[in-house]
Amino acid sequence: ILAAMGFLPFCCCVLVFCFTASLAEASDLPDLYPPLWETSPGQFSDFKVENNVHIINPWVYPERMGMYKILLKQTARYFEKFGPENEQNILWGLPLQYGWQYSTGRLADPSRQTLCGHESGDPLCISVDSWWADVNYFLSALPFLAAVDSGILGVSSDQVKLLPPPKDQRKFCYNVSGCRLSYPEKMNAWNLFYQYLQSPSSSFDDLLKHLWAAHTSSLENMGEYFEDRYTYYSKIEVEFDKNWTLTVEYLAASHFPTTLIRVHKAQQGLPPRILVDTDVAPFISDFTPLQNIVLSALKILCSVDKLTGSLSLTVWKVLMNTQLARRIFVEMVDGFIFISN
Ligand SMILES: *[C@@H]1O[C@H](CO)[C@@H](O)[C@H](O)[C@H]1NC(C)=O
Ligand SMILES: *[C@@H]1O[C@H](CO)[C@@H](O)[C@H](O)[C@H]1NC(C)=O
Repeated sequence: ILAAMGFLPFCCCVLVFCFTASLAEASDLPDLYPPLWETSPGQFSDFKVENNVHIINPWVYPERMGMYKILLKQTARYFEKFGPENEQNILWGLPLQYGWQYSTGRLADPSRQTLCGHESGDPLCISVDSWWADVNYFLSALPFLAAVDSGILGVSSDQVKLLPPPKDQRKFCYNVSGCRLSYPEKMNAWNLFYQYLQSPSSSFDDLLKHLWAAHTSSLENMGEYFEDRYTYYSKIEVEFDKNWTLTVEYLAASHFPTTLIRVHKAQQGLPPRILVDTDVAPFISDFTPLQNIVLSALKILCSVDKLTGSLSLTVWKVLMNTQLARRIFVEMVDGFIFISN
């Protein structure tokens, strides 16, 4: 009871803090945008056109970002009712994660056989050998093409084409019909999200529910699909990849609100570079305390998941079934990040 009594005022304080923090930062939103956001293409006419087909090369950082930029811009109108300046757009989580992958070196060629993505060579190149880049393809190309398909981007389905990577071309899809054919469930899940987005009575929580359903559907089986990439990384980085994928399932169950300010802050807790075998959290000297704590927390979470044979995830899903529980969880995360920053 004492703990509960202490907890309530704590939550209230956190609420007040977060509210003031959000207000204070509302005018500096562009500072929170992912790297090179401003200079990335933001409309279809910024891309190459051939025979009335827009051609996007998702293996170049700004062009993949451009898909997100169009998506964020074209969906802004549906989030106006939740707050100003598109800050409440829950699609922000995607470009911010992608930006984090880029700035931490995770989109570069991990085999170092080419200079793709490396500062000394072609820094904007996205390597098909990067595990992160491949998995992110299904969280960029698919949501984008499904948005084209659902009509909210204002171009028709046969007017957009993505370019293939230099190898493993059969692992990806490049247009609406091709992606629908190869990944029907994933595309359907995104289509459901866009359908719900367009309904005038959409609620914030149900939008999150649909978004996370699409997100987890996009990720399903993808880690394993590209597991041959693991050979390029340290054992610790591979563990982190797997652990992060699992953690995303816990976040999904909580309907974690992937809005601009919140994701930006939360990402400051993620590893700022690729992990090497000598990295032992919480003792990584070039990481911030928050980054060390988050990495340790992931370890504990994933160990519990392993020990219980994922029963913990089932229990967590049941626990997160009520809006109140989800709310308390998000307040706690917010509060934690606020205190640690
Ligand atoms: C879409 O891509 C598939 C292969 O991924 C191809 O066979 C098909 O012709 C493409 N469709 C259009 C309309 O470009
Ligand atoms: C990942 O989770 C496992 C438990 O499943 C844990 O033993 C390992 O230390 C974690 N590694 C990282 C880098 O988070």
